[in-house]
Amino acid sequence: MKPKVFVTRPLPSAALELLSSACEVRSHAKDEAMPVAQLSEECREVEGVLVNSTRLNEEVLEAAPRLRAISNCGVGYDNIDVRACNRRRIPITNLAGSLEETTADMAFTLLLATARRAIEADRYVRQGQWDRWQWGLLHGMDVHHKTLGLLGFGGIGRPMARRGRGFAMRVLYHARHRVDASIERELHAEYASLETLLRESDFLSLHVPLTPETRHIIGGEAIRLMKSSAILVNTARGPVVDEEALLEALAGGKIAGAGLDVFEDEPKVNPKFAGLDNVVLAPHAGSATGETRLRMATLAVRNLLAMLAGERPQNVVNPEVYT
Ligand code: 8YV
Repeated sequence: MKPKVFVTRPLPSAALELLSSACEVRSHAKDEAMPVAQLSEECREVEGVLVNSTRLNEEVLEAAPRLRAISNCGVGYDNIDVRACNRRRIPITNLAGSLEETTADMAFTLLLATARRAIEADRYVRQGQWDRWQWGLLHGMDVHHKTLGLLGFGGIGRPMARRGRGFAMRVLYHARHRVDASIERELHAEYASLETLLRESDFLSLHVPLTPETRHIIGGEAIRLMKSSAILVNTARGPVVDEEALLEALAGGKIAGAGLDVFEDEPKVNPKFAGLDNVVLAPHAGSATGETRLRMATLAVRNLLAMLAGERPQNVVNPEVYT
């Protein structure tokens, strides 16, 4: 008998076919996050769940006595109560290795778009306001030869360092653990304390997971240390930044701008952001390319199938369940 699995959003058809070849699949019909109560109801009989931007907590696990494999369709897994899974010895996988370069492309896009005022420029031309060349028109700021600060130096931070190098930037990083000297050399990246990173970065790009330690790590105090000419880029998780403090800083000229792909209460976005010209906004689209989304869905399915077959996939984020 095929194991029953539940998928929290419709999958691309190639990935769904792969999953259906080995499992009895039920999917949530809508491409939107499911409420916990509904997910609990759907998980009563399943052995595996493929979860995408949907909270999976104690309540769901409580309702799902047969659950033995959780495949998270994302690299970040702050949507899952890992401790509760550990107590039940349920492995969780993520999508490490599938979307980091694509997300770094987006982070660099936001960096460039904010620095060079690309969205304002587009609006200016579209609205027919362009009537002549002018010295002072839409001055942005140089990116090349500036200092790129990376908070977090994992799967996305490191590809960002390569992009920075391509723009002849000085690259600083801060992370919980300093990486091997050979990696620093290869990426031409210098380790810095958090304070130095904040003080010296012209562009500060966030690449940390959301944890109790990183929640609001960029708040009023951190922002006070930043240059007034600095631009903040966030493609990590919204709550890493204290949005009220950021809005105040952006409106008051304490920093120069921000490129934001993630928000504290997404998909709701504080309307004050839309009133600011010095921000570029995107709808959590860091991994949104056709190739990458298909790779993500396929990897999420493969991870789930491997766990259900009793194998231990590379992308298990809680290996302690195997000890
Ligand atoms: C995903 C992400 O698109 O992988 C992550 O952590 O934030 C995104 O790239 C998102 O998790 C939805 O699956």
